[in-house]
Amino acid sequence: MAGYLDRIGAGKVLIDKSPLSYDWIPPELVGRDEELSDIASIFSRIENHGTSCQAVILGPVGAGKTVLTQRFGNDIQRHLEGRRKIVVTHVNCRNHPTGSQVLQQIALSLDSRHPERGFSSGEIIQSIRRNLQAHEKHLLLILDEVDVLVRRDSSDLIYKLLRIDEGQDKSGSLSIILVSQDAALMKYFEPAIISRLGHSNILKLQPYGSRTLTMIAEQRAEVACKSGSVSKKTLKKIGEFAAEVGDARMAIELLDAAIRRAEKEGRGEVLPDDVQPSTLRNASLEPAQVDNLSKHQKLVLLGICRRLKKAEEISSGDAQKLYQLVCEEFGVKARGYTTFWKHLKALEIEGLIESRSANASEGRGRTQHITMTNTSPATLESRIEKEFLRG
Ligand SMILES: Nc1ncnc2c1ncn2[C@@H]1O[C@H](COP(=O)(O)OP(=O)(O)OP(=O)(O)O)[C@@H](O)[C@H]1O
Ligand SMILES: [Mg+2]
Repeated sequence: MAGYLDRIGAGKVLIDKSPLSYDWIPPELVGRDEELSDIASIFSRIENHGTSCQAVILGPVGAGKTVLTQRFGNDIQRHLEGRRKIVVTHVNCRNHPTGSQVLQQIALSLDSRHPERGFSSGEIIQSIRRNLQAHEKHLLLILDEVDVLVRRDSSDLIYKLLRIDEGQDKSGSLSIILVSQDAALMKYFEPAIISRLGHSNILKLQPYGSRTLTMIAEQRAEVACKSGSVSKKTLKKIGEFAAEVGDARMAIELLDAAIRRAEKEGRGEVLPDDVQPSTLRNASLEPAQVDNLSKHQKLVLLGICRRLKKAEEISSGDAQKLYQLVCEEFGVKARGYTTFWKHLKALEIEGLIESRSANASEGRGRTQHITMTNTSPATLESRIEKEFLRG
């Protein structure tokens, strides 16, 4: 009777699921040699004690900004071993959108016992500096999705960090890489910051084309799946569909879904027909459908999309919390529970999300699990964000 359960872990195709996670850091970046050289050249003097470097990395969703900085951080650390001690701290400003939260994350990455309260930002910055000098360390700070910090708070912290060694006897405490999807990021900064960041230190990543996306899917399939179980044709189809948005996350998502489809049918080979792209379904989604939503419906949907880029489903409770965060981010007052719920149902009626009731014994009877099978969350996210950023 429970024969269907036999397929779980049968592993006809999959031998290791972890490379299909977005957090998996590939051993080699596909098709980004030139960009890696560019960033290496910006950091060419980093070996010298007393030196700091700055870079800005811009590019659309899924262009590999985060993974590029992670790869570079790991590589440079290893490369300079024995010559200069580099500590890499990666802060995602979407998760820590105020200056004091970012500062707290930096301090914690250097000292896990750093107290949560009681110090001014100037004091924390100086204690970070002392810590680095005392251990002869150089901090490579990556501020990812930095536009969220700058829009929500200000660029004040960045300015202070860029000046961390000013008036001190030793220099070279920290290097900074700012990362953002927002091509117009620099417009938020005053000339004093722009001049410190350096005009020639801006690296712009282009969206991926189908060949690179095919290779990105292939790289993951090679480690995740049994050898030969995902055909070249299948990978090519994944690359072609993902190229419609140029987003590497979509290539990984399509591969994952195709593998599951093949395994569900008990096959040991993933076929081109298993690739059923969300982009295809996207095409059936009228863009106007999103544009015509009310402001708060869009904000609810944005919160949901952000989670569903990384997870299969989201509970209605989490969706409400994310909605509140999104409202905060865009400086809008969040509506109460009943209105939130009404918007959720409206999105469902529009066909943008699906929901199923959670087991009633889990507590509040109204908890629902939300999924999005008709559209790609990443595409919707950037569409809604763009609109809000345009103001
Ligand atoms: N060149 C590449 N080679 C291998 N994997 C890649 C490459 N580029 C991106 N990826 C993978 O694709 C996924 C998305 O990349 P990443 O998170 O770096 O994009 P991003 O530009 O930071 O997107 P966002 O703007 O949404 O933050 C990650 O899982 C990453 O490992
Ligand atoms: Mg990123």
